[in-house]
Amino acid sequence: MIAHSALHRINRAIAHEWHGTRTAPYLLHDGERLPREVPSPRWHSNGALATGGWRRGPRALRPSHRCGPRDESRYCRTVKTWQLGLRRIAKILLYVSAAAFALAILAAAYLFWPRSYARTYVDAPATTDAVAPLASAARFRLGAAVHDTEVDTFAAAAGRDFNSMTPANATKWGNLLVGGKLGKYDFTTADALVELALAKATHLRGHALVWGRYPGAGHPSDLEDVLKAAPDPKQRLEQILREHIDAVLAHFHGRIPQWDVVNEPLHFWKPIWDDNVFYRTLGPEFVATAFRLAHAADPSLELVLNEQLPQYDDEHAEKFFEIVQQLQQSGVPVHGVGLQSHVLMVLPSVASLEAYMHRIAELGLFIEITELDVRLRLFADDPDPYAAQGRYFRDLAAACARQPACRGITLWGISDRFTWIDEEPPFRWMQPNDPLLFDQDNRRKPAYLGIIDALRRAPPTRTGRLP
Ligand code: XIL
Repeated sequence: MIAHSALHRINRAIAHEWHGTRTAPYLLHDGERLPREVPSPRWHSNGALATGGWRRGPRALRPSHRCGPRDESRYCRTVKTWQLGLRRIAKILLYVSAAAFALAILAAAYLFWPRSYARTYVDAPATTDAVAPLASAARFRLGAAVHDTEVDTFAAAAGRDFNSMTPANATKWGNLLVGGKLGKYDFTTADALVELALAKATHLRGHALVWGRYPGAGHPSDLEDVLKAAPDPKQRLEQILREHIDAVLAHFHGRIPQWDVVNEPLHFWKPIWDDNVFYRTLGPEFVATAFRLAHAADPSLELVLNEQLPQYDDEHAEKFFEIVQQLQQSGVPVHGVGLQSHVLMVLPSVASLEAYMHRIAELGLFIEITELDVRLRLFADDPDPYAAQGRYFRDLAAACARQPACRGITLWGISDRFTWIDEEPPFRWMQPNDPLLFDQDNRRKPAYLGIIDALRRAPPTRTGRLP
């Protein structure tokens, strides 16, 4: 209290001394803190308050020379020139930001405005041929990732439309664990799907042993905390990885012949490692560790490194290629590369994909397109977007069929009604996405016919049995 009233008095003195009678003295109430802008007094060495000047003070209280309209002094001319310049800059900035704002609104309207496109294919006479027998004859895997919404649809489509299957979510690490946490496994859901695929004699892909995204689904939700509490997090993570990989591969031994061992090691948009719990704890070595553990657990398996690349001829794709090359050259048991191929924002040219596959094949690795879906709106400029999408599927399938090391394509879902893209921001607001082979009403789309077309033209060298 004493200190405050002392301050109060000092402050009155300061304010009074500073601006004399022009402004009311600055009042400071008891309990109020001295504002930052209030001048701090200077003290003589003998302890008395100096009256000669202040170190700094509120701008409004500083004495200033006001330039009137007719004041032509050099000082005032300079001030006026500056003021004019600043005003002009402010005006320009205002126009530029207004234009940017308008452009942003237009872009948002273009991207997000709901649209619908004519489904001309519905009335077009279409072949009733089924694609799966053609695929099998061309030693081409045509798979579907099966979500729990499409189990029955897959049961009906297997053998006719697909000869391969990937459990979309059921075999992910976190989803195999009770409550998504380290501890007990529950294989019930995954087993049901795997048994369905086996009953329908389709190939199976396991997805995914190690994935740094989606805690609670892609990996245990408590993994980060468990490692934080561990005296040696590196050693603890290696042990956790070993136990997980051993348990899962033992459980599915003889049933799932191919696994995505590591999913998405890279950042989504930048050519750098994804900063996930595995990378942070073990560094880039986590990938080699996972592959070695998987190979040791079951040497009969085909082991795949799976990644999402937005393009195939940029730095991002280059970074991924370097990783694959390095793993392969250092004798890590990686056998194949999974190119997810979610085509969301830009349409990579099929030629660039083909060239990329060629480079991977030259390393002695096989390729699978593991999660294909292609957003319809990327074809919005075409008079018939569904047909254009069909041509893209055709060309992509043809490129895979031409490349002997390309094993085939898995679609990330069956019908447009249940595509995961409709759930994901921002695409959920940019409908229609319609990225798959069957439409909202489960009818075959031009995309389906496009794949038929490509497989009919598959090089005869492909014929034989599926590997
Ligand atoms: C997606 C599933 O389709 C969704 O149901 C789930 O909510 C999130 O994961 N890359 C992958 C897949 O490797 O596992 C993802 O699957 C899609 C992106």
